[in-house]
Amino acid sequence: MERSLALLLRLIGTLAIIHIVQAQSQQGFISLDCGLPANEQSPYKETDFGLQFSSDAIYIQSGKTGRVQPNLEGRLLKPYTTVRYFPEGTRNCYNIPVEKGRNHLIRGWFIYGNYDGFDLKPKFDLYLGPNLWATVDLQAEVNGTAEEILHIPTSNSLQICLVKTGETIPMISALEIRPMGNDSYLTKSGSLHLFFRVYLTKSEKYLRYPKDVYDRQWIAYFQKEWTQISTTSDVHNINDYDPPKDALATAAIPTNASEPLTIKWTNSDNPNAQYYLYRHFSEIQDLQTNETREFNMLWNGEVMSTDPVIPKKLDISTIYSQSPRICDEGKCIFQLIRTNKSTLPPILNAFEAFTVIQFPQSETNETEVIAIRNIEANYGLSRINWQGDPCVPQQFRWDALNCSNTDPSTPPRITSLNLSSSGLTGNIAAAIQNLTQLEKLDLSNNNLTGEVPEFLGNIKSLLFINLSGNDLNGTIPQSLQRKGGLKLFRQGNPRLFPSESPTISTGKSFPVVIVASVASAAILIVVLVLVLVLRKKKPSTVQVVHPPPSRPTMNVPYANSPEPSIEMKKRRFTYAEVMKMTNNFERVVGEGGFGVVCHGTVNGSEQVAVKLLSQSSTQGYKEFKAEVDLLLRVHHTNLVSLVGYCDEGDHLALIYEFVPNGDLRQHLSGKGGKPIVNWATRLRISAEAALGLEYLHIGCTPPIVHRDVKTTNILLDEQFKAKLADFGLSRSFPVGGETHVSTVVAGTPGYLDPEYYQTSRLGEKSDVYSFGIVLLEMITNQPVIDRNRRKSHITQWVGSELNGGDITKIMDPKLNGDYDSRSAWRALELAMSCADPTSARRPTMSHVVIELKECLVSENSRRNMSRGMDSLSSPEVSMVFDSGMIPRAR
Ligand SMILES: *[C@@H]1O[C@H](CO)[C@@H](O)[C@H](O)[C@H]1NC(C)=O
Ligand SMILES: *[C@@H]1O[C@H](CO)[C@@H](O)[C@H](O)[C@H]1NC(C)=O
Ligand SMILES: *[C@@H]1O[C@H](CO)[C@@H](O)[C@H](O)[C@H]1NC(C)=O
Ligand SMILES: *[C@@H]1O[C@H](CO)[C@@H](O)[C@H](O)[C@H]1NC(C)=O
Ligand SMILES: *[C@@H]1O[C@H](CO)[C@@H](O)[C@H](O)[C@H]1NC(C)=O
Ligand SMILES: *[C@@H]1O[C@H](CO)[C@@H](O)[C@H](O)[C@H]1NC(C)=O
Ligand SMILES: *[C@@H]1O[C@H](CO)[C@@H](O)[C@H](O)[C@H]1NC(C)=O
Ligand SMILES: *[C@@H]1O[C@H](CO)[C@@H](O)[C@H](O)[C@H]1NC(C)=O
Ligand SMILES: *[C@@H]1O[C@H](CO)[C@@H](O)[C@H](O)[C@H]1NC(C)=O
Repeated sequence: MERSLALLLRLIGTLAIIHIVQAQSQQGFISLDCGLPANEQSPYKETDFGLQFSSDAIYIQSGKTGRVQPNLEGRLLKPYTTVRYFPEGTRNCYNIPVEKGRNHLIRGWFIYGNYDGFDLKPKFDLYLGPNLWATVDLQAEVNGTAEEILHIPTSNSLQICLVKTGETIPMISALEIRPMGNDSYLTKSGSLHLFFRVYLTKSEKYLRYPKDVYDRQWIAYFQKEWTQISTTSDVHNINDYDPPKDALATAAIPTNASEPLTIKWTNSDNPNAQYYLYRHFSEIQDLQTNETREFNMLWNGEVMSTDPVIPKKLDISTIYSQSPRICDEGKCIFQLIRTNKSTLPPILNAFEAFTVIQFPQSETNETEVIAIRNIEANYGLSRINWQGDPCVPQQFRWDALNCSNTDPSTPPRITSLNLSSSGLTGNIAAAIQNLTQLEKLDLSNNNLTGEVPEFLGNIKSLLFINLSGNDLNGTIPQSLQRKGGLKLFRQGNPRLFPSESPTISTGKSFPVVIVASVASAAILIVVLVLVLVLRKKKPSTVQVVHPPPSRPTMNVPYANSPEPSIEMKKRRFTYAEVMKMTNNFERVVGEGGFGVVCHGTVNGSEQVAVKLLSQSSTQGYKEFKAEVDLLLRVHHTNLVSLVGYCDEGDHLALIYEFVPNGDLRQHLSGKGGKPIVNWATRLRISAEAALGLEYLHIGCTPPIVHRDVKTTNILLDEQFKAKLADFGLSRSFPVGGETHVSTVVAGTPGYLDPEYYQTSRLGEKSDVYSFGIVLLEMITNQPVIDRNRRKSHITQWVGSELNGGDITKIMDPKLNGDYDSRSAWRALELAMSCADPTSARRPTMSHVVIELKECLVSENSRRNMSRGMDSLSSPEVSMVFDSGMIPRAR
């Protein structure tokens, strides 16, 4: 009896009771059939209750759709037969319009139904905005569950988020939002998590809309110690709570009138829970004149109120807690016991119990949330983690943002927005003006046009603006030019006046610098005015001398950088030299997360790749210097080497050796006319890349974690030798047993170590994982993530194909079966062990190198045997490992 109550609520979903449905208002209801494709009939009227359901697609940007196994389908209401599941991202959120300040019933349904055929029941967390609402554990609730809460949203949009907490994939079947009456279910603090809601009847029907105008669900509940009474008369049910008439028309009385009516339960999950109880009474018997019914309510044996309850004839009384109640070690006993005066036993018609959930973390300031959403829409950004609250909880904060959130009770504010190199077009978004506590704004390296808006000058807190590398025009507004303490960067906007960056000194010993540049005819004039006099009047103000607006201007490298310089012989280039070597950045050869890459030439012949970094993509000058110092010392034939750098003012660039033959991805796909490489070459390339990675891990002090190993970062030279790129922007990590904690989300979806989601740490084994994915790509030539594939991630796909045991189904068909199946199997096993979700089970890179070399030997011996027939045209097949490549500790 005790356990059955809590369970009752959860015995759901499989019930299908046909009700005659009359049209009634579902005003304000939002009923989402999660995973219903938007192009299927939507909205539709669900037949049992007449609820109008629609696809959830417009309320969420992510997730995929699935359907429960056919044997279950017939037993579920239609809205609960499809699911949306979230193989990608840690937090996926619905964004649903609601009425701020109004109580809402929010209910989610979770019925796994083996939709993916894995029979892996998920366990994950559910959040409302930034706060934990519930843990959904379908390993315990095997038949599915519902979570329901009564909650007053603090803004007009409600974020309902599913958060991955382990290996399993979060999923949801349906979402139901119902606005509630104004004066019901109020608490002193916190929201109400439904514990149970029952009406006392021997029937097995459960009630919901349209019997219940708010679509609450009333579960039938009865005990053998009780007797049912009922009425066929109409019971008046209107008060603040409006429970269904049907729930009031039956009731329970104890069979032995002297005994109490008792409902008890044990909440061992949450023994300290606070409860709010709502008891609905109505007298549904005809009392004789010599009969009375009155009773007291007891909570854990104590009388709850001074006056006894006398239910009203065919009319509702709802008695509710004004403040929360607790139980003794999770054991709760609710009793009704008749008074001495009463000739009749106590009666109970319906009963609701809720536990209190506190939601301590404030949501981000609503104006700012609207503003950032407008910015997102304005630029058509789509980032997997731009879901839910932008700032909190901190571990899910959106990329590109920084926020102030010291105290959970005050709404966080956005303090930094970095949209550099995000492909932005159009004007600078007006919505930025509503981020009124912004300190740092980086819009560099986009295609922004139009004028620099006046409002930037009105954001008082702004200290740093980077507009460089766009196509802005007009003049910098006065409000910005006059703004004290501001660093403004805007090179590379040839139509923007005045053209030079006003920049102020941050060092104490430097006077204010007034910088202007004028290009006229053939002379570049740098006007440097150091005016100590001015400083007395306006200590931290920058003034800009305007050039004649009609003249073309050029960027002039400015002298007197206030920052100390990196002293390195020959390797440091001025910005002018960088411009010259790239012929004014004429040939863009790539674009990475940190900026664009241009082709260049030094000394007339040596080819280089110049990576232009936006200032804010580095963690600051000190880190940049440390990084460069380290990278200049890293040399390995399978690593793209850094040959120099530029750090002039805010111009930061890294200059790498140029690797001419594209990347491994291009060769695998055959894109851009690249030949498809054969199996032996693939093995050799991967062995070489593995050597490069091994060198970073064990040949460097401190060790370097690459953090972004992927096929597009494996470059090939004329001889098809592999060179690993982009490790330059990994961050070295401290030696001596300390583990590296990354603060910047790194990596590429699909390649990212799954443990990163729990630990937020990337170590050498994370590179091993990514390398495993590279090997799988090389073997199968399948996309790493393919939403149209039933097993979207390559490891899942290979895992399921492996069950068939047929390697030819796994291997890249473009290889035409031309490979040694032993080497193929071995490489595949190696790849899967590298991609093991548990880092401890992954091999080291040294082990990977050995394995790959052996695969190659096996493949080459097969080729040598059949060489008579093969015409070996490419230089790729013979593989010689330089013996000098063995990594050595520094
Ligand atoms: C799940 O449903 C089956 C069949 O309806 C039932 O036998 C079983 O007890 C249910 N399990 C739980 C935990 O409710
Ligand atoms: C409930 O409150 C809202 C505003 O808070 C108001 O517009 C509405 O009329 C109220 N409804 C009732 C039934 O009082
Ligand atoms: C009813 O309950 C009272 C008090 O517990 C008890 O004394 C009495 O024997 C019970 N009557 C029957 C018929 O069980
Ligand atoms: C009330 O009166 C009826 C007759 O009118 C009688 O049968 C019954 O026993 C009485 N009940 C009580 C509790 O005295
Ligand atoms: C009710 O009866 C009990 C004993 O049966 C007695 O202790 C109690 O004081 C009575 N209460 C009232 C209000 O008469
Ligand atoms: C949110 O920010 C706006 C300014 O953008 C401010 O006017 C408003 O008071 C803030 N709201 C809260 C709740 O702090
Ligand atoms: C800017 O737009 C031009 C053409 O409209 C395009 O060629 C170029 O790649 C874009 N640059 C960036 C950084 O998006
Ligand atoms: C800024 O916020 C206010 C109040 O929330 C809103 O009315 C206004 O439209 C917003 N401005 C922009 C440019 O988005
Ligand atoms: C800036 O360029 C836009 C077109 O890109 C043009 O409409 C506008 O007039 C220009 N403004 C100035 C001040 O030149």
